[in-house]
Amino acid sequence: THPAWLPDAALVHLAAADAVVLGDGPLVDTVRTEVAHAATLGGGETAPRPAGGASPDRLVLALLDAVPDDAPEQLREAVDLVQRAPGDEGFVEVRRTGAAGTTVTMLATTGHGLLHAWFHLVRQGAAVLGVRPEGDRSGAQASLRVEAHEPAHALRVLDHWDNVSVHPVMGQVERGYSGGSLFYDDGALRPDLGRVRQYARLLAASGVNRVALNNVNVGRREAQLLTTHLDDVVALADAFRPYGIRVHLSVSFASPVVLGGLGTADPVDPEVQAWWAQTAAAVYAAVPDFGGFVVKADSEGQPGPFTYGRDHADGANMLARALGPHDGVVHWRAFVYDHHQDWRDRSTDRARAAHDHFAPLDGRFDENVVLQVKLGPVDFQVREPLSPVITVMPQTRVAVEVQVTQEYTGQQQHVAYLAPQWTDAMQTRPWGDDGPAVHDVTSGRATLARRGITGGGLAAVSNVGQDVFWTGHPFAQANLYAYGRLAWDPTLTAEAILDEWVGLTFGDAPDELRTTVRDLLSGSLDVYEQYTAPLGVGFMVSPTRQHYGPDVDGYEYTAWGTYHFADRDGVGVDRSCATGTGYAGLYPPGLAATYESLSTCPDELLLFFHHVPYSHRLHSGTTVVQHIYDTHFAGVERVEEMVTAWEKVAPLADPALAGRVGERLAEQLRSAVEWRDQLNTYFFRKSGVPDGRGRRIY
Ligand code: GCU
Repeated sequence: THPAWLPDAALVHLAAADAVVLGDGPLVDTVRTEVAHAATLGGGETAPRPAGGASPDRLVLALLDAVPDDAPEQLREAVDLVQRAPGDEGFVEVRRTGAAGTTVTMLATTGHGLLHAWFHLVRQGAAVLGVRPEGDRSGAQASLRVEAHEPAHALRVLDHWDNVSVHPVMGQVERGYSGGSLFYDDGALRPDLGRVRQYARLLAASGVNRVALNNVNVGRREAQLLTTHLDDVVALADAFRPYGIRVHLSVSFASPVVLGGLGTADPVDPEVQAWWAQTAAAVYAAVPDFGGFVVKADSEGQPGPFTYGRDHADGANMLARALGPHDGVVHWRAFVYDHHQDWRDRSTDRARAAHDHFAPLDGRFDENVVLQVKLGPVDFQVREPLSPVITVMPQTRVAVEVQVTQEYTGQQQHVAYLAPQWTDAMQTRPWGDDGPAVHDVTSGRATLARRGITGGGLAAVSNVGQDVFWTGHPFAQANLYAYGRLAWDPTLTAEAILDEWVGLTFGDAPDELRTTVRDLLSGSLDVYEQYTAPLGVGFMVSPTRQHYGPDVDGYEYTAWGTYHFADRDGVGVDRSCATGTGYAGLYPPGLAATYESLSTCPDELLLFFHHVPYSHRLHSGTTVVQHIYDTHFAGVERVEEMVTAWEKVAPLADPALAGRVGERLAEQLRSAVEWRDQLNTYFFRKSGVPDGRGRRIY
């Protein structure tokens, strides 16, 4: 198994630290195990050791209540510097540099906080202990630094779309591109959960603290995780617990019928409510730190409250009341739309659906309900505007859901570093520059904090499987890492996270390799966007090949509501208020006006919001059709450059990794050429407009 972002090389700088760990509890023991492991890398024999002694301790990790009154000076000074005891997962870092060198003291209230403190030290690399680059003879400046760290989101969830039983179409993992499931194999829990424990460690080091164990489309065997197969959940919870990760289950809203033998799942039925309360109690008896339920209801055929004439608040609150006594939460997904749409019906707009279902329900959800909203209004496309639902639910705990698994972004055959998409969205200020950012909504700071409630946090669909590299494409690890880091701190930049990931994963590799990996990933999402569906119009993927590869009209006459409306004159979806579906008007006024008008709508979203002639001139100066040709040629050229750049450094990489990356880049190039030629040919044939630069179009 590949060590991902925790190779020994990333820990070696902590080997000589001779760290002291103070405190008790299972997660403090995990920290001790980590410290001991790091110590072995430097050839150290014993670690951790007791505090104090002749020289100052270079590195101390302590629970505040475990610091004795007669602690050494260094520790007492650090404790005095803590202004406010850190929350559950937070920690305070006190770093003093003086004549005798640098000492670092990490203080936390809980073992969980201490564990995050440890990974924080890992991330900082050699600099953490004041180690200066070789040849730097300058004396260390005397300094004292105190930094408090807290996660922005209490809920940082990773959803596994894993099936216990292999699904006839979707396989073991729905939209999984990394081999089988880490958890299940052909109908049963894997007997050896060793890799799950390693995975838990990686996730904790990235910042993830919750994992949902099964697909949101809940099959029969998967539904039983809640009852007859609860043992599976117990075993998985045991594997995740040492790293502070709590497990959740996707449940079927029809469970009282499917599992309980009741005649109904109506949320107002007292028998149904009692069934859920008893079932939840039994889960908590077996897994006391169980996180809660994820629910996809009345969506793409999943059961839900609509069957009984109830709404989503009725359904979510009923489950919330079963979990409430145990401190559990319901993640209720907002991905609700009509998937039996008639393509002839121009009045229905899928992009509106989640908004129209949920906006009226703001204020009706219980406090332990989180509304889990996909980042964009349609479905994880490479380019979509922000979902307006995020802006219209001030009294609801909103979580933003992103797709780490690359369903629509190259399926882990293509390099696509997704973090720029997520940071752009999380850092957007939908109400204008003076208003809150999206991450203020998800953290609850914008509105909920006044009521003492935290926000819904982040959720994401995992991209991991049995593959030796975890993620199929080794570079797709960066997406998982970035997700965890952003869930912890959504103000980080995508570039800073990429630097961290490269530093940890390839830290001991030659500069040239690291720089190339960094450059390949850095612009990769732009490249992918260039050779696929243009200007925000989305889809154009193959319905018959699991959404892989181009099929411009593949969804055009289907029931799924994802159309581009290309004809001989133009392309795009009119979502304006003036002449279209009115979707543009669902945003706060400033943003709504920006999208409404052709003169202000950003180029990259033009065809999402407007239907325009091929001759329409973009802000960039070119026409729509010429832009399509140019970007598709350019995208392929950039993939060719990526292939060449990788060939140059591949000999410097681990051969297995180099082989895998090489294979995938070859496939990316083949696929990009196919995208280019199909898209260009399609639009040339529709429009009859030749390429202004006379390049080959078929
Ligand atoms: C996408 C994806 C499905 C998934 C759905 C969801 O449509 O293709 O596999 O079930 O999203 O998010 O529920």
